[in-house]
This record gives sequence, C-alpha cells and structure tokens, in this order.
Amino acid sequence: MPGYALPAVPVEVREKIARLASERQAVILSHYYCRPEIHEVAHFVGDSLGLSQEAARSPAKVIIFCGVHFMAETASILCPDKTVVLANSGAGCPMADMIVPEALAARKRELEGVPVLTYVNSPAAVKAISDVCCTSANAVAVMRSLEGRRVLMTPDRNLALHVQGLVPEKEVITWPGFCPTHHRLRLPEILALREAFPGAEILAHPECQPGILGEAQVIASTSGLIRHAAESPGREFIVLTEEGVLHPMRKNSPDKVFHTPATPMICPNMKKNSLGDVVSALETLSPVVKVPEGTRLAALRAVERMMAVPRD
Ligand code: 13P
Ligand code: SF4
Repeated sequence: MPGYALPAVPVEVREKIARLASERQAVILSHYYCRPEIHEVAHFVGDSLGLSQEAARSPAKVIIFCGVHFMAETASILCPDKTVVLANSGAGCPMADMIVPEALAARKRELEGVPVLTYVNSPAAVKAISDVCCTSANAVAVMRSLEGRRVLMTPDRNLALHVQGLVPEKEVITWPGFCPTHHRLRLPEILALREAFPGAEILAHPECQPGILGEAQVIASTSGLIRHAAESPGREFIVLTEEGVLHPMRKNSPDKVFHTPATPMICPNMKKNSLGDVVSALETLSPVVKVPEGTRLAALRAVERMMAVPRD
C-alpha cells in the first residue's frame, strides 16, 4: 500500500493466534485505541458501541477483549454464556474509576426521580443503578429518547456538555468525570495547529473539552471520525482523539495527511494490550471478566436500552 506501511506482525505470531482462536472458538475484539498490531490480528476492530454489538451477535464461545475493563464487563453483561477474557488484566479506565455506585446512589437521592444516563465508560455496578447507558456514538439520540426535562448524565462531563449543546430542550446535570487522554488538550495548541494547517478539517472526540470542540468541524465517536476521514473529499485533517485511530485512517486513505497535536493523545491503558497478551489469553483463557449475576441483570436493562438506540 503506497504511503502507509502496515505494522509488522511476525507471521508465526499471526498463525499461532489464528490457530488458537480457531481451537478455542474465540473471537478477538479490539478497540481502535489499541496498538496497530492488535488491530491486525483482531477479527473485529470498533468503537465501544460497535464492539458491544459484535460481542452480542458473535457465535463464538470465547471473547478475547483487547480494550479496557469496562468494555469486557459490558461484553459479560450482554453475553453471560460466553467466556470473556480481557487480554491485559491491568487495562482499566481512569474515567470509569471516577464514579462509584455509592456516590451515584447518593446523588440520585438528592435529585429525586431524575433519570440517570450513564456513559458505558463506567463500572457495571454503576450501570446497574442507571436508567440507560450510551456510548459516544449514540449519546445525543439516547438523551432525546428520554422522557422528562432533567437528566443526570454520568460520568463524562465533557460529553454531557456536548450533548447539552445539541439537546437544548433538556437540562443536563453533569458529573465531574473526564478522560485524562482527551481532557489534557489545551485550546492554544489547537488554534496554533489550525493556523499552521488552515485547509485541514478538525476532527474531535466528544471527550475533549468544550473549547476544543468549539473549533472542530466534526465531533463523533472513533468510528464516526474514521468514517468521516475516509469519505470526506478533504485531503488534510487535524485529529483530536487517541492516536490509535490514525492506523485505520491512514490505511483507508494512504494519500491523505493527518496532523496530531504535540501533546500526545495516548491512552496508556489501551496500549497495555500486547500481542503476547493475546497469545496468553488464548492459551490460558484468563483473566476472565465476569459480572456477578445480580449486578449483570440490573445493568442489562440499561445496556439493552442503549443498544436499541441507533447511532447519532
Ligand atoms: P468510543 O469508542 O465511543 O469512540 O469512545 C472512546 C473511548 O474513550 C473509549 O474508551
Ligand atoms: Fe478511558 Fe479515556 Fe482510555 Fe477511553 S481513552 S479508556 S475514556 S482513559
């Protein structure tokens, strides 16, 4: 492929993973933020919503999840009969850790009957006491689907403020959570990038702060941004999300130019998943992520409601 070199995956590693996956009747799922070599051995690469949908529809007995803990939990909520293995047991999500069920329960008591919309980037026990979940791909549509004017949206404040801007008829009450990878971007850097590349379209994930989103032409989930970059007649882009999306963007459009901020946008947890972890997960079928049945059944209602709402 001219213009973009694919990451090298040793052929013996690729073959070993394919053989083990077939023996184990396993499907390997990877989030876009994982390393390019993980994309290359995965059966399916997607955003949070796409991965949940793929987990739910896959006939595989085993799911090897290359992503972070809440994603494997969501797969466990949706697929209780499958063995869900998180390739790297240390891959957590700091934003998901910014909310715990006790704190949400206390806020719900204060807000007396206000529905709770929870981003999937949250613990299963928090989903279990939420009314509905969303991902960045359907947050606006899920918000619009709710009855009543006031909604508590947790845990990502930046996503909640973005949704509030698009759904002004609601009063969105926020939670003070954020994604460190996206939240650390600062406006002066983006303004300088825009000045340096005036012809470039700015693509941003809604986990960025409102001032950054105010400069973006396209705000969407990772799959939405990747699709836009492939379909746009534009030739140059400033990409404001985790750098893992650059692999599919460059692979889809080797002749287009993708600029990134000097502040590195790298999720250290997503990057923990290695090819060695995938091999080990397939060999040992561990570490398993299994949501306890009581929590699972309670969380399933909120997750299924989310799955019924199409992408924005
Ligand atoms: P999406 O997968 O919805 O684009 O969200 C990005 C993210 O931060 C996942 O952790
Ligand atoms: Fe969590 Fe942000 Fe990493 Fe996504 S990119 S897993 S929200 S820390």
